[in-house]
Amino acid sequence: MTTDGAPATGLPMEVAAEGLPTRVRIHEVGPRDGLQNEQAVVPTEVKAEFIHRLAAAGLPVVEATSFVHPKWVPQLADAEQLFPMLGDLDPRQLPVLVPNERGLERALALGARRIAVFGSVTESFAKANLNRTVDESLAMFEPVVRRARDENMHVRGYLSMCFGDPWEGPVPIAQVVRVCRALLDLGCDELSLGDTIGAGTPGHVQHLLAALNEAGVPTTRLGVHFHDTYGQALANTFAALQHGVTTVDASAGGLGGCPYAKSATGNLATEDLVWMLHGLGIETGIDLGRLTEASEWLAGFLGRPSPSRTVRALSHKE
Ligand code: HMG
Ligand code: MG
Repeated sequence: MTTDGAPATGLPMEVAAEGLPTRVRIHEVGPRDGLQNEQAVVPTEVKAEFIHRLAAAGLPVVEATSFVHPKWVPQLADAEQLFPMLGDLDPRQLPVLVPNERGLERALALGARRIAVFGSVTESFAKANLNRTVDESLAMFEPVVRRARDENMHVRGYLSMCFGDPWEGPVPIAQVVRVCRALLDLGCDELSLGDTIGAGTPGHVQHLLAALNEAGVPTTRLGVHFHDTYGQALANTFAALQHGVTTVDASAGGLGGCPYAKSATGNLATEDLVWMLHGLGIETGIDLGRLTEASEWLAGFLGRPSPSRTVRALSHKE
């Protein structure tokens, strides 16, 4: 140990626990979910450099940007300029958010190969985020998913507000199951269960996963996407791992939030997740030191420290 409590190696001691996966795929969302919520507009060159640093740290998937209406999310209005700056990376590593056919056209024109549509399980958030009801949103996604699959693209379906909604309160599990089934029936390859406002707790996570399995949705098609508003994201992730989930969304340095859900704070920090996974002996392929450096570099640019506990601990280490 160093005097400030960080292990001298900057790595956790590896001690396995029963019944967990041996490998987890981290789906990095910092450049999209994180930067979409920044007050200041981050220059396109800085975004490109951040994404390159994340890829170099071994992140297998880095969600790069969104092809949404620029007035709805001005922070990502530079998608057309950014995506070509990532031409040296494999486009299958760089998913982009696409809400509708217009967004898909824009993404296809730049050579994107992996997209995500993003639905809501509650009417209030569907309206706030997409200007549609839940069913109208699903109807909007239908031609997008069909065309993307015809183009042999990988399609993720996000579901927001799976664990609670700031306008509607608790969200019935059956409501989540219905939208999950609908997105799978549209042809999504994988789903990501969003705790947009970070309200969920571990028992709730396991209960939802079990209900989805009962409804015929296999765990292999599910990822989890926890925001850390109430400090539950890591505990919720552990509960999902115990259930067999192997795809976990996280945001480098804990960047994040959602411009259309004001109570949402950052996502689970990727560094905190990697510290736990490596401590459990679970492979990620990620170099924690390089990842932390990428987050510190961006935090320096944003002018405030990263909220990630692991980034803070490692950056104070000599
Ligand atoms: P709308 O106003 O209903 O749009 O917005 P519309 O379909 O009526 O079209 C109006 C105009 O917008 C038209 O132009 C369209 O061409 C244009 P006009 O003919 O009037 O000149 N337009 C577009 N322009 C560029 N790109 C597009 C596009 N689409 C239409 N793709 C819309 C509907 C879906 C566009 C809007 O609501 C929108 O862009 N929403 C995006 C909101 C968003 O990105 N939120 C954050 C991501 S979700 C999230 O963070 C949650 C997540 O992390 C999981 C979790 O934590 O829960 C994923
Ligand atoms: Mg999110």
